[in-house]
Amino acid sequence: MTQRGQLVIDQHIDKSAYSGFVESSLDSVLSELLEGDLDFAQDSDNTGIHNLHAFPAKYPPALPRLFIQHLTQPGEVVLDPMVGSGTTLLEATRMERYGIGSDIDPLALLLSQVKTDPPDPARAFQSGLNVCNRAYFALERDRSAVCREIQNRFDDRTRRFLDYWFTQETQQELMALLLQIEAEPSPAVRQFLRLCFSGIIVTKSGGVSLATDLAHTRPHKVAGKVPRSAIEEFARRLRKNVASIEQAGRCAGRAAVLCADARSLPLRDNSVHLIVTSPPYAANAIDYMRAHKFSLVWFGYPVDALSLRRKEYVGHEVLQYGNGISLPKPVQQVVDMVGKLDARKAKVLEGYYQDMTQVMREAYRVLQPGRCAVFVVASSRLKGVDTRADFCLGEVAQAVGFRVAGVGTRRIHRDRRMMPASRHAGNGSTIEQRMHQEYVIGLVK
Ligand SMILES: C[S@@+](CC[C@H](N)C(=O)[O-])C[C@H]1O[C@@H](n2cnc3c(N)ncnc32)[C@H](O)[C@@H]1O
Repeated sequence: MTQRGQLVIDQHIDKSAYSGFVESSLDSVLSELLEGDLDFAQDSDNTGIHNLHAFPAKYPPALPRLFIQHLTQPGEVVLDPMVGSGTTLLEATRMERYGIGSDIDPLALLLSQVKTDPPDPARAFQSGLNVCNRAYFALERDRSAVCREIQNRFDDRTRRFLDYWFTQETQQELMALLLQIEAEPSPAVRQFLRLCFSGIIVTKSGGVSLATDLAHTRPHKVAGKVPRSAIEEFARRLRKNVASIEQAGRCAGRAAVLCADARSLPLRDNSVHLIVTSPPYAANAIDYMRAHKFSLVWFGYPVDALSLRRKEYVGHEVLQYGNGISLPKPVQQVVDMVGKLDARKAKVLEGYYQDMTQVMREAYRVLQPGRCAVFVVASSRLKGVDTRADFCLGEVAQAVGFRVAGVGTRRIHRDRRMMPASRHAGNGSTIEQRMHQEYVIGLVK
């Protein structure tokens, strides 16, 4: 379910599940969990359904699982207001909780939806094969009709974008696939096939586009790249993704995926039992839209509209003045330290902590008293100054009413993370240096 508006949560919780579960002790349970091993180096479950599509900076499933398991009961509501690839949501439903995930990124929403409500694998596979066969046939029979569709469907700027990043041949194959996917009558199968389609474009290698390293960094056009056949790649992706949903089976709990801004959630006060989330890093270390627009344009989003949407992402680098939120003094001091070296970067950082103040306020509002919120963040360096995300976000959280139960640390395993880090190893001022450690901030309302 992707929707805007108030979400009404059924009171379906089994009260008997509460026996032996004392909310007042959650504080100490949370503190203890934060002192344990949060690296999850041995966690092997980042495969299968958690890998249906590339997504930068997702956390290991074992991380939300740990907090969900110890801080909630079956039937309770677990929220991730910045749900990304849906890791928290899927783990919540697997443990029979009611998962709610919101995001403003259309690809994150699509991915979360498919993960928590996958279609019947056999039906999806057959439909995907039909899509491939019919796409081949359409190109053979009347390629000019497919070309006309490309001309008519996109505005000028979007077409220029497509012409720059995709060969004519690839555009025609993608359009032929898309026309067949759109004809699929089952919404769950159609969403699954769209995800397979997106998965052949937004990949580390740049997939069938002319870009390289789309999932990680700023895309570059590769001179001389000869992309593989989009239809063949789609068939390969289909097989892989069908195997993933087959292996995963169906979840026991229920999930709602909301297109909503974490700074203004369509949820009632005190309606959530646990929040586990990882916001974007300060000052846009990862620009989600920059990569995601490569597939989103095919789904009908004009390039200009997507560029505008970037301003809504927490951590974006577009300067916007005057949302009027004043930061706690120690946080303002960190901003001012950056400001002495670079006024623009300081404004961006200030905007980030202001956005995060709104996110924290909403988290506090929707959480039940006595319940916990877990924020996973990384610090970044701006002009050599540590932005001290763990400390600053702790201050921001306290300013909106939370109590900080503790802050855990975890090492990022770069070989497993969808991050730009490892490409720049050894370069002193890069993301490699900035993101080697994450903080897990535990809060109690
Ligand atoms: C670090 S990712 C989350 C990754 C997630 N924990 C996972 O395992 O896949 C941060 C997410 O925040 C989302 N986001 C950024 N600004 C947002 C906003 N204003 N409201 C809701 N989500 C937002 C991004 O689209 C992105 O999906």
